[in-house]
Amino acid sequence: MYPMLKHAHSGLRWVVLALLLAAVVNALIKWRSGKGYTESDRKTGLFAMIFAHVQLILGLILYFIYSPAVQFNEYTMSDKVIRFYTVEHLTTMLIAIALITIGYSQAKKKPEATQKFRATFIYYLIGLILILAGIPWPFRFPGAGWF
Ligand code: HEM
Repeated sequence: MYPMLKHAHSGLRWVVLALLLAAVVNALIKWRSGKGYTESDRKTGLFAMIFAHVQLILGLILYFIYSPAVQFNEYTMSDKVIRFYTVEHLTTMLIAIALITIGYSQAKKKPEATQKFRATFIYYLIGLILILAGIPWPFRFPGAGWF
């Protein structure tokens, strides 16, 4: 179960990143060109948020049940890998997903198209940047795989 979940969590990053990028670019282009807000714009943001939440659920299962990289003991803060997954990865990703969720609900609440696109663009972009920064890319510590 653990390898399967870890693989799913690792691979799903690409779906989350692609959907977030699509939502950010779509919001920027339509915001700047003054286009009207359609149902498909709402869905672009919605899918990105849903997949971020699926990733959150997989992450929480790994975090609380399976991952040996999450530990609450005397090594939590002194072992860099354990600290990364127990504290840093969790915190960064939770903030990012919270911002994306707030962005979606802000966009829903705002009355005008320009405000909706602006809210989506800003919240989703910050979320995307945080997620990019929180991923254990192969070229940075602690160096997980590409998939
Ligand atoms: C969009 C958000 C997230 C992305 C893109 C993401 C991405 C990743 C990636 C690429 C790995 C490395 C997997 C591997 O070693 O092959 C990983 C590991 C992990 N993630 Fe996430 N993650 C996200 C959110 C979360 C959240 C919110 C949690 C906790 C609640 C979490 C918990 C974990 C844990 C515990 C591991 C370590 C698995 C292990 O090596 O045992 N992740 N994550």
